[in-house]
Amino acid sequence: MSELGLQFGRSMLAHWHLRPDITYLNHGTVGATPKAVLAAQQALQIECESAPANFMARQVTDSLGMCHGESRLRHAAREVGAFVGAAPHRLAFVRNVTSGINAVLQSLQFAAGDEILVTSLGYGAVTYGAQHVAARAGARVVTAELPFPPPNALAVVDAIVAALTPRTRLLIVDHVTSETALVMPIADIAAACRSRGVLTLVDGAHAPGAIPLDIEALGVDFYAANLHKWAMVPRSAGILWCAQAHLTNIHPTVISWGLGHGFTKEFDWEGTVDPTAYLASAAALAFLRELDVAKMQAYNHQLVVDAQRMFAQRWSHHDAAGAPPLVPAALLGTMVTLPLPRALGAGADAALALRDSLWFDDAIEVPIMAIGDRLWMRLCGQVYVEPADFEQLANAIERRL
Ligand SMILES: Cc1ncc(COP(=O)(O)O)c(C=O)c1O
Repeated sequence: MSELGLQFGRSMLAHWHLRPDITYLNHGTVGATPKAVLAAQQALQIECESAPANFMARQVTDSLGMCHGESRLRHAAREVGAFVGAAPHRLAFVRNVTSGINAVLQSLQFAAGDEILVTSLGYGAVTYGAQHVAARAGARVVTAELPFPPPNALAVVDAIVAALTPRTRLLIVDHVTSETALVMPIADIAAACRSRGVLTLVDGAHAPGAIPLDIEALGVDFYAANLHKWAMVPRSAGILWCAQAHLTNIHPTVISWGLGHGFTKEFDWEGTVDPTAYLASAAALAFLRELDVAKMQAYNHQLVVDAQRMFAQRWSHHDAAGAPPLVPAALLGTMVTLPLPRALGAGADAALALRDSLWFDDAIEVPIMAIGDRLWMRLCGQVYVEPADFEQLANAIERRL
């Protein structure tokens, strides 16, 4: 039971605008904002429209020199900072994790021959960002091949350490990998990098709200994340945290009035944008507290751990050669990526066709990926999901075999 007094499961859909006729198993790709949080954002937008210049220039930001007292963005940063374990003066809002990562990449100076290490399980668009800055500097992007599924966390750390060289300047690593849904041992990875003089930039797109998070304790240099996935904040809302030593060197990708006035002033005004998603983080955090964050995370985790077991048992006879090993529960958060029966085909076209067909014919939204020589699906737990949703998915897929 949640603090809302409701049993988690489909009845929780009453708190979302999600259509009741669809089965939404993809909170990870595009998070769904709860009704109460969206209403709070809309109230903020109306408040802004009632006195726009006063709201935007005097209240929201202190970057324009017109704010009296604490700005509303700084207030929101304090509240979000308490939730993710980040000191507010080291924490800024960004539109999304992509822009936070790009801000770091474009602020760092790379030299010819330098290496930026990414992983084979990293997010493609982030790797493109690394390739872009590397190419300009004559640096190289190197990929650490990570095992999937890994037998344990140590195997992940070892694979990353094995790919470090004396030229490695920066490691970019996901806290929770996107397609493969692994929770990475970030503190151990960061310690290994630190001892070799390598900076660590964490892509925490799927971390806030999904897993317990204490950014300051991780020992990393930079941490960018999304709030608009698992922290229930409306789009577009992300964060960027920098260790103290880097604060004066990191600038937003869009330079505006704050330049030279410190990290938070630079990020708190990137030109005129709608700040209401950031300000609605208070309502999102209140919603999470009502759900009870620890209970929500435990429920979501158990959903996907049980689903992994259920699918493995149900489809074991489809893999004459033996199915890939299960992902250890310790490496799972609120998502799990599972192999599909080989009879469903392989390759990107087959993945897209199955994904579309599940949506258009069965109203099930679930990502299907081509990894290696077979198809996989990623399942998301969420408080509005229940085991029957995964049974429905299993039945729908079996009808295609
Ligand atoms: C690991 C990872 N990094 C980055 C992103 C990009 O997020 P956004 O488009 O909100 O910047 C995603 C999106 O799912 C992701 O899974």
